[in-house]
Amino acid sequence: MDRKAPIGVFDSGVGGLTVAREIMRQIPNERIVYFGDTARVPYGSKSKDTVTMYSRQIIRFLKTEGVKAIVIACNTASAYALDTMVKEFDIPIIGVVKPGAKVAVDTTKNGRVGLIGTDATIQSGVYDKYIKELNSDIEVIGKACPLFCPLVEEGMLNDTITNQVAERYLSYLKDKDIDTLIMGCTHYPLISSTIGEIMGDKVNLVNPAFETAIELRKLLFRENLYNQSDVDSPSLMYRFYVSDAAEKFRRFADSILPVDISVTKQINIEQY
Ligand code: DGL
Repeated sequence: MDRKAPIGVFDSGVGGLTVAREIMRQIPNERIVYFGDTARVPYGSKSKDTVTMYSRQIIRFLKTEGVKAIVIACNTASAYALDTMVKEFDIPIIGVVKPGAKVAVDTTKNGRVGLIGTDATIQSGVYDKYIKELNSDIEVIGKACPLFCPLVEEGMLNDTITNQVAERYLSYLKDKDIDTLIMGCTHYPLISSTIGEIMGDKVNLVNPAFETAIELRKLLFRENLYNQSDVDSPSLMYRFYVSDAAEKFRRFADSILPVDISVTKQINIEQY
């Protein structure tokens, strides 16, 4: 495999950009092909079979772009489809849940960890499983926040409606004595200031993206895939694809990434 080949990163929409952003910061030598499934977002209310089928189509597409490894930058797809995808495809694939669980275990002092995510992620119990594998004394208190993803997709990051919705969801966690809160959906770091204000300074927010980029770098070294050559201009380093409304995505991506996105292409993901 060519070390200069890109990393494939995907999510149901813009959320995975929080992971792509972290990879750009921590491993600037690596090229990225990002796919946002904007035609089929949200994944969090869909079944395991559907999310697995979507993930399979996306990985098939990313392979046509010559990627050398894949990051499933979506907690829902990591929870539902990672194990199956690892078995089906012959390239390294990592998700965001295991790295997020690890940071939460390292962060909590009182052993009480809150988790917010999509219905699918909370119901899958996958965070509890990984956390308990690392430390069986830790208690995980989950709360699904299904409206956060559409609010973020609409760009309502600093909006009174988002504040009200967050107040309503997070009130459930406020009296649970948690000292750590996992943002278990890649869309949520985009509203972390709202979440942080409501939860207060005593609760540490965990963004699994940071640790995911560290895991990716380790994986690339281990597999002899790390790109040693010089960095090109962002337009050569990063490519973006979506399944719907490319211009809307491009504007959003431009506002949150450290580089300017010149082109986002729309593709028909159903054909893969
Ligand atoms: N950003 C995704 C996640 O981390 C999916 C949100 C959704 O599509 O419902 O779970």
